[in-house]
Order: sequence, then C-alpha cells, then structure tokens
Amino acid sequence: MKQNWTPESWKQCEARQLPAYPDPAALDRATATLGNYPPLVFAGEARNLTADLAKVVEGKAFLLQGGDCAESFAEFHPNNIRDTFRVLLQMAVVLTFASKLPTVKLGRMAGQFAKPRSADFEEIDGVSLPSYRGDIVNDIAFEEAGRTPDPERMIKAYSQAASTLNLLRAFAGGGYANLLQVHAWTHDFMGRSPWTKKFKDVADRIGEALDFMEACGINPETVPQLKGTDFYTSHEALLLPYEQALTRQDSLTGQWYDTSAHMLWIGDRTRFEGSAHVEFLRGIGNPIGMKCGPSLAPDALLRMLDTLNPKRVPGRMTLITRYGHDKIEAHLPAIIRAVKAEGQPVVWSCDPMHGNVVKAANGYKTRPFDRILAEVRGFFAVHRAEGTHGGGIHIEMTGQNVTECTGGAMDVSEQSLSDRYHTHCDPRLNAGQSLELAFLLAEMLNQEMSDRKAAA
Ligand code: PEP
Ligand code: CO
Repeated sequence: MKQNWTPESWKQCEARQLPAYPDPAALDRATATLGNYPPLVFAGEARNLTADLAKVVEGKAFLLQGGDCAESFAEFHPNNIRDTFRVLLQMAVVLTFASKLPTVKLGRMAGQFAKPRSADFEEIDGVSLPSYRGDIVNDIAFEEAGRTPDPERMIKAYSQAASTLNLLRAFAGGGYANLLQVHAWTHDFMGRSPWTKKFKDVADRIGEALDFMEACGINPETVPQLKGTDFYTSHEALLLPYEQALTRQDSLTGQWYDTSAHMLWIGDRTRFEGSAHVEFLRGIGNPIGMKCGPSLAPDALLRMLDTLNPKRVPGRMTLITRYGHDKIEAHLPAIIRAVKAEGQPVVWSCDPMHGNVVKAANGYKTRPFDRILAEVRGFFAVHRAEGTHGGGIHIEMTGQNVTECTGGAMDVSEQSLSDRYHTHCDPRLNAGQSLELAFLLAEMLNQEMSDRKAAA
C-alpha cells in the first residue's frame, strides 16, 4: 500500500462509512463539477498551519479546535457563524491570557458535514431506511426520498463551505477579531452566567495592557497581529469522493493538498490498517488529525504514524484522544510512552466529547459537563505525569444558547434538554459552557506553565 499514491489510490483499499450512491453517473457528474471549482484554501495556508502546530509540539502554543458536530443546511446563517467564531475567540483570549501561550484557532467549520454512523440502516416502526450521514450525503428527515444518498448535495455543501469560509476570513482579518474589540465579544444571553463577569475582568485587564502599549507606540497600526488573527478550518475527511475532487497539486511545490480545509482528520471508525481513508490522507500535504479511542493499540498507532508521517514532520500529526472520563487514565499513558520512545513529534489534543455520550431518561443523547471536564482533567494529569505537553482541545460547541449537554454553571437539566436541542448529530456545548470550560482549562494550562518554570 505504501507505493504510488494518487488522489484516487484509496479506491484500491477497504472503504468504510461511505454512502452507497444509487446512481454512479450522477456521482461522476458531481465530482467532475467540483473538480473544476476553485480550491477553498491555498496550500501555503495549510503549510502555515503545520508550522503553527509545530509550535504546539514544542510546547510553545496551544491548539483550540471546535465547532459543530455536523454543520447543516438548515442552521446555515451568518449569525450562527459569527457566534461560533466569537466564542472561539473568547476562549482563545482566556487561554492565552492565563497561559501566556499563543492559541492556534481551528474551526470544525466550513466543511464539517459528513458523519460516520454505527449502522447503515435505521429502522422505525418496521420501516428501514439508510442512516442519516450528514447533509452532504442525505436528509435527516426519516423519508425514503431524502434518505437516498444524493451526490448533488456535495455541490451545495461546497457552496455553503465557501461562503462560511469567506465570512470567517472577513471576521478574522477585517476588524472583528481586533483585540481592541475584546469587550464586544460577549453575548447578551450569557449575562446571567458567572463566567461572563470573569470574561469582562479579563477583557478589562487586556484593555489596560493595550492602553499602556498604545502609550508606548504599540497599536494595531504598528503591530498588525493586534488587528486580526489567523483562523483555520478543519473537518473529518470522511466523504472521499468529495475530498478527492478538491485535491489539487500545489504549483509551488508539486505536493498534493486537499483544498477543502486547512486540516483534515481521520475518525475513530476509519483509522484501521488498510483503510481507504488512511491511504487518501497519507498522500496529501495538509496537517492531519487522527482520533484515538480505546480500540487503538500502541503498536498499531506507531505503524499508523509511520504511514501518515514517515518523514516525522513536526506539526503534521495531531493525535486527538477520546477515551471517556473513566478510561483516559488507563489508556493514555501507554500511547504517550510509545510515541515518545519512537520519537514521533505529535500534537496531543483532548476530545472530551466522543467518549462521554449518555442517554438521558427522556431519550435525549447528551453529555454531562462534569464528565467532559473530568476527561480534560484526566488528560492534563496524565501529560503532567508523563512530562509531555497537553497541547490542545477538540470540542463540539456552538455560539448559540442550546440545551444539548447537561450541567455547567447555568445547570442545564435533563428535563430542559428539549427546550433548544438543535444539533444534527451529537450534543454540543453551548456558548456559556464553552466559556466555562475555557476558564477551567486555563487553570490547568497555567499549572503546566508553573511546573515548567519551577523545573527550569
Ligand atoms: C466526530 O468528531 O464527530 C466523531 C465522529 O468522532 P470520532 O471519530 O472520534 O467518533
Ligand atoms: Co460528533
């Protein structure tokens, strides 16, 4: 499998989690159309992200990756994009303020449409239909026509990704993310959360620092970093026909890049040996993430790293661990030791979402905030004990005031889950819970920084 990579060599390997399109000619037409569309990101940007992630590998930066579990056509609205972006900015400010480390901001946005499912079919009242695989594949409504995989949906997803990315770029570079605006990033509906007051305090202190710097001649005009920020996009590289259609050869280096996002990751269900998804990702130049769940043995992980990052480029690989609050301390040390012994440079990131799903008594799929926090604490505790940098966090969140995860300072109860449960897939942290997590995370990072100072 290691020879002769091409953008379609994945077709020779075992592909799980791909939809069965009933009309192959329609699939060919859609991918041919996409193949003529402009790339969404430029290869040089993907290389910049690799360089930023290399700083995380060295312990000199922190990675914040977050956004919807599944973006949807129904929730596509500029306010949703703005609100998610704004919470990510707030979180980044809190983290950077506490740790004095730069935060690499990476959205699960502008392309996070395709979902892996545990079963190919869903059955309700004796009727069996193909499972919902994300809006890029089929419709969430349980109806035969909509559930049939339709390749035309890839074109709509591309167009939504393009406009989302356009707005994100405008926010990041056009003034919204200017640090002088830090007070404006709060949300009206978060007024009651105790963490809003804390954010205001941080914003006040940043404001004071900026006033002082201004007096010294340092302002957004003289130091452009204050004026805007780098914001990158990512999604699970699941729907390979779509990813292949957006894979282009960089004219500067001759290297292939998947131009659908800056970073692509492999899910826990598609990272097995011999996988078509692994074959596809090994040939592209983008930084790559890989989900690591309880079924991944340390030796299998090392073989995977050899395949995906044979040249051991720092920043190329981010390992996103997702064990569950009660399993992380049992599993994480072994893989950290194996990776360390092998000398593979990786970013260690914690996904505290996917191992912590529970079903509430009323049938809603939820994630208790306590468990999410417990996994994050476990992650930092293990890295502290192993002497490695807990480098990042990967979360499913939204800037909206949804009620999908229970708990947090505003205490979403199981009974209130039905109030604003809008997700198209897994439950997300709402804006208040995300900010709360950032403050608690900041304390843990701060601890790591003081340990480091003490050891130096
Ligand atoms: C996801 O990130 O939405 C996901 C499906 O995660 P995992 O592959 O870790 O289960
Ligand atoms: Co999810």
